[in-house]
Amino acid sequence: MAKLWGGRFTKATNQLVEEETASIGFDQKLMEQDIKGSIAHATMLSKQEIISEEDAEQIINGLHAVKAKISSGDYAYNVQNEDIHMNIEAFLIEEIGPVGGKLHTGRSRNDQVATDMHLYLVEHTHAIIELVEATQTAILNQADKHIDTLIPGYTHLQRAQPVSFAHHLLAYFWMLERDKGRLQDSVKRANLSPLGAGALAGTTFPIDRHFVASELGFDGVYENSMDAVSDRDFIVEFMAASSLMLTHISRLSEELIIWSSQEFQFIELDDSFCTGSSIMPQKKNPDVPELLRAKTGRVLGNLVGLLTVLKGLPLAYNKDMQEDKEGMFDTVETVEASLLMLAPMIDTMQVKTDNMKQAVNEDFSNATDIADYLVTKGLPFREAHEVIGKIVLYAINHKKFLLDLTMEEYKEHHTLFEDDIFDVLKPEQVVANRTSYGGTGQEQVKKQLQIAKSHLS
Ligand code: ARG
Repeated sequence: MAKLWGGRFTKATNQLVEEETASIGFDQKLMEQDIKGSIAHATMLSKQEIISEEDAEQIINGLHAVKAKISSGDYAYNVQNEDIHMNIEAFLIEEIGPVGGKLHTGRSRNDQVATDMHLYLVEHTHAIIELVEATQTAILNQADKHIDTLIPGYTHLQRAQPVSFAHHLLAYFWMLERDKGRLQDSVKRANLSPLGAGALAGTTFPIDRHFVASELGFDGVYENSMDAVSDRDFIVEFMAASSLMLTHISRLSEELIIWSSQEFQFIELDDSFCTGSSIMPQKKNPDVPELLRAKTGRVLGNLVGLLTVLKGLPLAYNKDMQEDKEGMFDTVETVEASLLMLAPMIDTMQVKTDNMKQAVNEDFSNATDIADYLVTKGLPFREAHEVIGKIVLYAINHKKFLLDLTMEEYKEHHTLFEDDIFDVLKPEQVVANRTSYGGTGQEQVKKQLQIAKSHLS
């Protein structure tokens, strides 16, 4: 079979080289974008009188027919045509004859592939932003129900201070809010048209790049044709934003795994998001959050892979850049699937409020509040810290919690203690008293929830 670029060659391509240099195995995912870009290009060529209106009409009708036949399986891709661009061009020529060969006027695969990828990524970034919002909504719905549910707050994975469960969940809302912002920001730079840059230097034909850009929904065009065909920053930015988002998701996943362990029993994930063991009948494993935790490595790997491909690459197009695709597709698909599982998993998880309550009642996470109590009675904080440290040690040695100590025991440690000490010890009070802006006091959490809601479209 003759190559579209065969004129210069006297020998056939080595078969392994043909297979290994071809990208049709994966870039067929760009079929719709490629046809869309070609239709806009053909429309522009006729508007600029570079080709006739009749030729453009035939080409455009032919492209529609090719798309339909590819979709129905009537056209099968051929590895000898290397990539999606040349496969479609070959189908077009088969469909409408030699006039199909006019489509590639004033264009190169270099600006063509870049255009396809911009179209693909912008479209998917918008879809991903919606999935992020769906996940934020799931978090908000759970938070709404659990403003008064208390859970131990941890530092160093040691009980620190009790918090509202809503407050804990909302921390993830804000991480996702920043992730959303980074994705939205990346679109500003991704939504530019490289088409018309040609192979690298522009073209001798009187093309209208701005027209093509607006036909394709781009916000503008690249100012420099060499930059246009060499730039893969838009993919790197998307991958970096995705890596950070999945890092956040992996932290949340880890908490869900810990909370659903036998030792914690703070939540139970819905059966539909867990799997069993082939040998141990009692097992209900949190496979979904475990997988989400691991997907972070995969997405970060894709980012590092692409940066490594680009490092030291001279201008303009190099075949190295064909290696940008699989990582991009994989990141898009991984992020989409991850968010699609995460939102309903949060929605359906069962919160074991009684176990959380028992936990906050059986620990020393109210110790800071007793120190603060002595401070309000006039003792410098550092001295209060020392006194309470001794009280905690005393309580541990006597197998008691701070709420179980008697007034006499408190008085023995410091004369400033009075009956009202018992008012500040209860976990509900400990949380309610954290009234500083952004703190876990229920009133603050309610305000935070309102602000969070206003960030969703
Ligand atoms: N399949 C190629 C890629 O994905 C398209 C561009 C090829 N351009 C070229 N001059 N070989 O990068």
